[in-house]
Amino acid sequence: MNPITSHLGHISSFLAMEVFARAEELEKQGRDIIHLEFGEPDFPTPKVIADKGVQSIRDSRTRYTHTQGIEEFRAAVVNKYKAMYGVDIKPSQVLTSSGSSVLLYLAMRLLVPPGDEIIMTDLCYACYDNLAMIGGAKPVRVSLRLENGFQLDIDEVKRAITPKTRAILVNSPMNPTGTVLSQECMEELAKLGIPIISDEIYGDLIYEGEPYSVFSFTDNAIALNGLSKYYAMTGWRLGYMILKEEWATVAAKVHQNMMISAAHFVQDAGTVAIREGESDCRKMAEEFDSRRKFLLRRLDEIGLNPGYNPVGAFYVFLKYPDQSKKSLDVAMDILDKTGVALTPGIDFGPAGEGFIRFSYANSKENIDEAVKRLQQYFS
Ligand SMILES: Cc1ncc(COP(=O)(O)O)c(C=O)c1O
Repeated sequence: MNPITSHLGHISSFLAMEVFARAEELEKQGRDIIHLEFGEPDFPTPKVIADKGVQSIRDSRTRYTHTQGIEEFRAAVVNKYKAMYGVDIKPSQVLTSSGSSVLLYLAMRLLVPPGDEIIMTDLCYACYDNLAMIGGAKPVRVSLRLENGFQLDIDEVKRAITPKTRAILVNSPMNPTGTVLSQECMEELAKLGIPIISDEIYGDLIYEGEPYSVFSFTDNAIALNGLSKYYAMTGWRLGYMILKEEWATVAAKVHQNMMISAAHFVQDAGTVAIREGESDCRKMAEEFDSRRKFLLRRLDEIGLNPGYNPVGAFYVFLKYPDQSKKSLDVAMDILDKTGVALTPGIDFGPAGEGFIRFSYANSKENIDEAVKRLQQYFS
């Protein structure tokens, strides 16, 4: 290890990228690979949104903006949260940046001083514990188990609380399981009186049940959101967070130092996405739901029922039959033998060992072909 950078030696990379790198090698050798490892819509950004971005560049909207984002974008976010969840937030509570990942880091820096603790789930999006540690915070993980439908056990959360606990981080609908935390669980979490950081990036991709925001339960919270998933804008890099005004003032200062602002023309495109993109984006969400049902049916037909109901995002988390094998080995072996790229469960925490994640952000034809190959592999 390089002694100069050794203080970051415990930070890991995404295993999904390792699977992808191997998949690319195989593709170069002429193999036909089906990519089910990425958490990224396979659709292009809807035209109305892309056109606005292009027009905005032509109109020279290419300068820095207010660090919290342009007024129109923040107003669009305020209206969206009112329309979807009935919650009242003010534009001064919105902070816009280049993707939600950096805001996740900022949210943790804001609430959790170095040396203090943040409770997060084990299973969670691969970067959560790394971002906490980069900021000097200590992640304390509470396991999610298939037997509980990957729901959070509030008693386990209570047991994880110490005098150093500064925040609880949740994600619903969730990566990697596609599950939604129950409203009862959110109510119980809110009652603990500890600030909640709620990653709502898949909030528009709920196929069963009523959507909610953390602000439906408490304002002692930070909601993180972004346009990558529902609006198919991953590469545009646009995200936002919603937080109390007094927190937003501090967050804005930190953000100004780190990022100055999100790109102006990207914010214009994002404004149009939220205001006018709904019909295009709803169609994509309907297609995801249809693929979800298709994948679940096909897995069931080959004896690989995941044993719970993934009702959101675009993921299915599957416990594979031979539990003596490590998930990274299984994912790599499946890739080598069948050409199907999946993400090893261990990418999402120790509780993910024994599982593989499917992303159904791919066509039904490809999903069908992948399941056929897996049937052969597991037989
Ligand atoms: C739960 C979750 N949060 C945040 C992100 C990152 O989103 P962004 O593109 O806004 O940085 C992802 C991406 O996969 C995710 O799965």
